[in-house]
Amino acid sequence: MQKRVAVIGAGPSGLAQLRAFQSAVAKGAEIPEVVCFEKQSDWGGLWNYTWRTGLDEHGDPVHGSMYRYLWSNGPKECLEFADYTFEEHFGRPIGSYPPRAVLWDYIKGRVEKAGVRGWVRFNTPVRMVTWSDTTKKFTVTAHDRSNDHTYSEEFDHVVVASGHFSVPNVPYFEGFETFQGRVLHSHDFRDACEFTGKDVLIIGRSYSAEDVGSQCYKYGAKSITTSYRSRPMGFNWPERWKEVPLLQKVVGKTAHFADGTTKDVDAIILCTGYLHSFPFLTDDLKLKTNNRMWPLGLYQGVVWEKNPALFYIGMQDQFYTFNMFDAQAWYARDVMLGRIKLPSAEEMAAHSQAWRDREEKIETAEDAIWFQGDQTKDLIAATDYPMFDIEATNKTFMEWEHHKMENIMGFRDNAYRSLMTGTMSPKHHTPWMEAMDDSMESYLASK
Ligand SMILES: Cc1cc2nc3c(=O)[nH]c(=O)nc-3n(C[C@H](O)[C@H](O)[C@H](O)COP(=O)(O)OP(=O)(O)OC[C@H]3O[C@@H](n4cnc5c(N)ncnc54)[C@H](O)[C@@H]3O)c2cc1C
Ligand SMILES: NC(=O)c1ccc[n+]([C@@H]2O[C@H](COP(=O)([O-])OP(=O)(O)OC[C@H]3O[C@@H](n4cnc5c(N)ncnc54)[C@H](OP(=O)(O)O)[C@@H]3O)[C@@H](O)[C@H]2O)c1
Repeated sequence: MQKRVAVIGAGPSGLAQLRAFQSAVAKGAEIPEVVCFEKQSDWGGLWNYTWRTGLDEHGDPVHGSMYRYLWSNGPKECLEFADYTFEEHFGRPIGSYPPRAVLWDYIKGRVEKAGVRGWVRFNTPVRMVTWSDTTKKFTVTAHDRSNDHTYSEEFDHVVVASGHFSVPNVPYFEGFETFQGRVLHSHDFRDACEFTGKDVLIIGRSYSAEDVGSQCYKYGAKSITTSYRSRPMGFNWPERWKEVPLLQKVVGKTAHFADGTTKDVDAIILCTGYLHSFPFLTDDLKLKTNNRMWPLGLYQGVVWEKNPALFYIGMQDQFYTFNMFDAQAWYARDVMLGRIKLPSAEEMAAHSQAWRDREEKIETAEDAIWFQGDQTKDLIAATDYPMFDIEATNKTFMEWEHHKMENIMGFRDNAYRSLMTGTMSPKHHTPWMEAMDDSMESYLASK
C-alpha cells in the first residue's frame, strides 16, 4: 500500500515540504501520498495577514502575528529559494527589503507553479496526533471547520510545520490590572496608526521590540520607550526613543523602571516572544524547548530522535528562514523516501549534543549566523536541493547587521546582490521612513 505523509501547517515550512516532494515527482520518483492540514483558509502561514486578533472565525486561536506595514527585517537575498528566485517570480530584480505582501506573493508563486494546492486541506486544524507501537502508524485527528466534521486518518509519517511565533509569552508586571491604558502582546499588534500621538512603552529587546517600536515611531507615536531585561539593543535611536532597564511596576499611567526613572505611558506592548506550543501532540512526540538555535531532540534539527517517523521543520530561532526550511524539508523527504539512512538513536543524540555544545559557545549574532549557515549547508549537501553560496549569504547577513548599527531607521534603504542569480538588487524608490504604503502595487511601481 502507498505510504502516507501528514504535513501540519501550510506556512513556509510546510510548503517547503510539499515542494520537496513535488520536485522529486518532477524527477520521476515515486512518493507517498501527501496530505497537508492547514487551519487557516489560505496558505503562507504568518505571511497570510489577518486583521483578526484573539479567536478566528471558528473560535480557534488566531495564528497570525504579523501586522500592517511589516517589511522584511533582513535582506531578502538571505532567504531566497535556491530553486525559485525573486527574478523568476517578479520577472525582474526587486528591492532587498520587501513588505509582507510581496514576500507572501513570492512564497505562493513557487507552490502555485508546483501545482500542489490540491494536497492541502484548508480550514482544518489538527487536534491530535498519536503513535501506535503496534501498527507503527500515526493517527491524525483533524477538524474540518467548513463542514464541522472531526475525523481521524492513519499516516506513516508526520511533519510538524506549525510554526512557533504564534502563541504569545505574556509576563506579568505589578500594576497591570489597574493600568490606565492598553496592554497588549506583539501577537495582537496590527496597526501602528493606533498609537499615533501616544507615549508607547515596549517590553523586550529583540526583533519585535525593535520593529514594533520602529513602526510606531514611523507612524507618529509621541515617544517610544523600550525596556530590556538582559541588555539594551544599543542602536542609534532617533530622538523620541529611549532605552531603559526593566519595568518594575505601573502605577496609574506611570511606569517605574529598574534604574529608578519613570515615564507616563498610554500603551504597553509586550514584545516578549513566543512559546513553542503543540497542543495536538502527545508527550512522547512533543518538542519542548524555548526559542533557541539548537533545540535538543531533533537530529540534524529535523528528525525526532525518539521516533524518527516524525519530523519538525523550522523549529529553531531564525536568521536563515525560507531556504533553511527548504534544506530541512528536502532532508526530511529523503529520510522518508529511504534515500538517507539514519544512524542509531545514540549516534543521533551524540550528534545533536555536539551541535548543542557549539550553540552554547555562541556569543554574537555573527556566531549564530555562521552556526545556522553551517547547519543549512550540511543538510543541503545530503540532498539534491541546489547548493548556494552559504559563506556569501553569511557575509550578506554581516552587511545587514552593519547597516543596522549605522542607521536603524534607514537600513532598509540598502540593497544587496542575489546569491542565487548574481544580480545586484535595485535600491527601493522611496526611503523606508517615507514609504507609508506597504502594498505590493506601491512597492513594485517604478516610482
Ligand atoms: C511578526 C513576525 C515577523 C517576521 N518577519 C520575518 C521576516 O521579515 N523575514 C523572515 O525571514 N522571517 C520573518 N519571520 C519569521 C517567520 O517565522 C518565518 O518567516 C516563517 O513564517 C516561518 O514559517 P513556518 O511555516 O515555520 O511557520 P508559520 O509561518 O507560523 O506557519 C505555520 C502554519 O501552520 C498552521 N497551523 C498551526 N497549527 C496548526 C494545526 N494545529 N493544524 C493545522 N495547521 C496549523 C498555521 O495556520 C500556519 O499557516 C517573522 C515572524 C514574525 C512573528
Ligand atoms: N519583519 C520584521 O520586521 C519582524 C518584526 C517582528 C518580529 N520578527 C520576527 O519574529 C520572530 C520573533 O521575534 P520576537 O522579538 O517576538 O521574539 P524573540 O526573538 O524570541 O525575543 C523575545 C524577547 O522577549 C524578551 N522577554 C521575554 N520574557 C521577558 C520578560 N519576562 N521580561 C522582559 N523581557 C522578556 C527577551 O528578552 P531577553 O533577550 O532580554 O531575554 C527577548 O528580547 C523573529 O524571528 C523575528 O525575526 C520580524
